[in-house]
Amino acid sequence: MRYIILIFLVFLVGCIPEKPLVKTSLEDTIFLPQPNEVSIEEYGFLFDNRTVLYSGTSPEIRDIANEFRALITKNTSFPFALSENITSRNNAVLFEIVNADSIPNSEGYILEVIPERVSLQASKPEGLYRGMQTLIQMLPDDFINYGASLDSLVLPGTIIKDAPSYEYRGMMLDVARHFIAVDDLKKVIDDIATYKINKLHLHLSDDQGWRIEIKSWPKLTEIGGSTEVGGGTGGFYTQEEYKDIVAYAAAHFIEIIPEIDMPGHTNAALASYPELNCDDKATELYTGMRVGFSSLCVDKERTYQFIEDVVREISALTPGNYFHIGGDESHATSAADYKKFLQKVYPIVKRYRKKIIGWEDISNAGVDSTMIIQHWTSESIATKGLSQGAKVIISPASEMYLDIKYTKDSRIGLTWAGLTEVDKAYSVRPLELFPDVPKDQILGLESPLWSETVTNLDDLQYLAFPRLIGHAEIGWTDEEHLDWQHYKYRLSKHDDRLKYKGINSYTSPLIHQVD
Ligand code: ACM
Repeated sequence: MRYIILIFLVFLVGCIPEKPLVKTSLEDTIFLPQPNEVSIEEYGFLFDNRTVLYSGTSPEIRDIANEFRALITKNTSFPFALSENITSRNNAVLFEIVNADSIPNSEGYILEVIPERVSLQASKPEGLYRGMQTLIQMLPDDFINYGASLDSLVLPGTIIKDAPSYEYRGMMLDVARHFIAVDDLKKVIDDIATYKINKLHLHLSDDQGWRIEIKSWPKLTEIGGSTEVGGGTGGFYTQEEYKDIVAYAAAHFIEIIPEIDMPGHTNAALASYPELNCDDKATELYTGMRVGFSSLCVDKERTYQFIEDVVREISALTPGNYFHIGGDESHATSAADYKKFLQKVYPIVKRYRKKIIGWEDISNAGVDSTMIIQHWTSESIATKGLSQGAKVIISPASEMYLDIKYTKDSRIGLTWAGLTEVDKAYSVRPLELFPDVPKDQILGLESPLWSETVTNLDDLQYLAFPRLIGHAEIGWTDEEHLDWQHYKYRLSKHDDRLKYKGINSYTSPLIHQVD
């Protein structure tokens, strides 16, 4: 009998929960973008001194898990040891790769927060990385306000099943009109990764500046990189710096897409090399804001050697799939020359195994189903490209150009596409823009930030945030879940985080107005 009681007592002790159950509410958690399937669990997960983080043995997953670990250990005294092998699924935070049958989308993830564990699963590292952003958004604001030290930490109970609506969710930075320094670019990468942005398109050349070192054509940066809008000193990325940016972005699961704009928007190159001009005379450097006055010389073979060298050198530094050839506003090139030019450029880019992206204007020269057009101003021209089988990236200027002023009183920005308050930026719906096009022909969305009026990181952040956050949500969240009132509420609660993270965002009266 004594034995039976003893066994019973041992059994009871074994059943006593290791940790108290904590009732939680997901209501205070602000997700941006909104995950697609969220269910609420009554009890959350309580961290303690014995909570272990499991990553498996892959270095890539370990790096992701370590990023999360660093955030927890920076703000609490929990050791939160990282272990490669799963010894228990209790009191554990697990970052796991699972079979693609259960999570088919490479960026999809399942996040379960219950009293026993936090389990983050995906079929690919990028899925874990996107899921980790959701997990980080569940941490209290104090966590982001580095320096706070918390004695206790509870994550609200939930099960989230999530995957993006569109595979391409990008931002474009014009580093040509005003140069953007490497460290500023890295800060932008840190911040956009939070909102699950996965592409950063760099507009590397324009009339006012050439911003990437090309070893076989060194004057492009020596001369063409020496100034910018307003006559400042400009700048450029060395190939080593560019590689460093590509690697930094890749560590945030962001693909860099290089753009060399042609045949127009090329004055910086034409000023650097006389031979690129039909009259063999170099142009003057240009520091104004006009567009549409420059063109590479279409009839010279040297022009195509130049393009091949540039495409070859940049492609060798860029592991991603895409090369953007610009093609917009070539008003100084005749329609016939424009077509002749692009028909010669396409095979060059294809030779370097890159998928061609061009502004929708390239539809006028003929496109094919391997190419992607970027819609910015003319639905009819974009429709022409779509009818030839190209895919489309949605960037309509009036809703998605981040350089457009919010209101007439915005301290910087342009107004040619009207004014774009935060609600208008949130109103773009890709499927409504091209209702006759199947969804899989819409690759995704991109928010371009042209930099005519952007002279520093503060300016950049002011124009990009929060409009970019809305675009990121439209790219990620299924259309049926997009709701301005809900978005507005979440954005109003997100101000502190933006400030803690050092993002000088625009505070819109629309967000704080009750209606
Ligand atoms: C553009 O805004 N010129 C593409």
